[in-house]
Amino acid sequence: MVGIAVNNSRDNVAMLGIGAYRPQRVVSNDDVCAVLDSTDQWIFERTGIRNRRWISGDETLRSIAAAAGERALVNSGVDRTKIGTLILATSSWLTLTPHGAPSVAFDLGINGIPAFDLTSGCGGFGYALGVAADLIRAGSADYVLVIGAETMTVGLDPTDRGTAMIFGDGAGAVVVGPSESNGISPTVWGSDGENAAAIMQDIDFLEYMHRAQEMQGLDPAEHPVGRMSLRMEGPRVFRWAAVTLPRALSAALEMSGVAKEDIDVFVPHQANARINELMKKNLGLADDIPMANDIENTGNTSAASIPLAMEEMLVTGKAKGGQLALLLGFGAGLSYAGQVVTLPPKPNEPSF
Ligand code: UT7
Repeated sequence: MVGIAVNNSRDNVAMLGIGAYRPQRVVSNDDVCAVLDSTDQWIFERTGIRNRRWISGDETLRSIAAAAGERALVNSGVDRTKIGTLILATSSWLTLTPHGAPSVAFDLGINGIPAFDLTSGCGGFGYALGVAADLIRAGSADYVLVIGAETMTVGLDPTDRGTAMIFGDGAGAVVVGPSESNGISPTVWGSDGENAAAIMQDIDFLEYMHRAQEMQGLDPAEHPVGRMSLRMEGPRVFRWAAVTLPRALSAALEMSGVAKEDIDVFVPHQANARINELMKKNLGLADDIPMANDIENTGNTSAASIPLAMEEMLVTGKAKGGQLALLLGFGAGLSYAGQVVTLPPKPNEPSF
């Protein structure tokens, strides 16, 4: 019988380098409240956010994704010709066709490689990291560039009290590749479509086209088509998070074989500082274990939040390369993904 060849597989993979890009424009709570019916105090107390970055000028999702990817490549020291796959984790690329990753690969001078988008809301980076690690383990690629990038502002209704003060723009990236010892645990991931409507785009493409057709010939000032905006039932997500995420964190620790006491750093998705404080307490992580708090000045950047938060901790010295970190992303879907990892080295080219 004719045999079909398989790739050579390997066990040990790790994040070899990290890079990020933070848009130029800093937007304070007071700036947001120029339009939104809220206050700086409410926003900070309920979410932990003081500032976020919003794209401006010629910054786009494509440009910030490529900027973060470029820094991750340089910081990793990996020759870009060795990158075998690019995964772009995003929910805010503006067209379904074409998707974003091939264009970003072209911009990075690695045109031609397998490149695809992965859409899993704010859990997207964790999903992409898991896929990247498994691609390398299976021998499908030697090195994978994972980019989490979002321009949440393009779908933001600045008057919506449920979202306007929370979301920001940004991009973070890691180069994943073979390593001597293993630096990425099996991924703990899952989804809950029963609660899909808790975070959703309010109008789908067909509804948008339908409305646009109905408005044809009418004065757009009096009959606006409207725009697609993100809506979130925050308290519903909060309740789901309180039940689902502690289980996910315990499972991630168990599957990694790393004891809770050996975790050096906690890097949860930057959705709400209060959720993160609660998760850390309920998991029983020691008080002095550093926890990412990039949300304070970056806001919630969805699939970009975990690499941005790791980068911030490494650049400021709150965490060190090689330390054991517990990661957990969660959000739209609803969905979540987490791992225990060793942190990549402190970036030589930081984002701030
Ligand atoms: O990244 C994806 C994953 N997302 C999450 O994990 C989000 C999880 N949820 C949250 O972060 C929180 O639910 C929010 C920050 C979105 C909202 O905070 P909350 O503490 O759950 O507020 P709430 O919606 O329960 O509202 C509490 C009160 C209400 O007033 P009353 O009825 O108590 O008088 C709201 O009307 O706060 C009021 N409120 C606001 N006030 C000022 C709601 N939104 C605002 C606002 N500014 N933006």
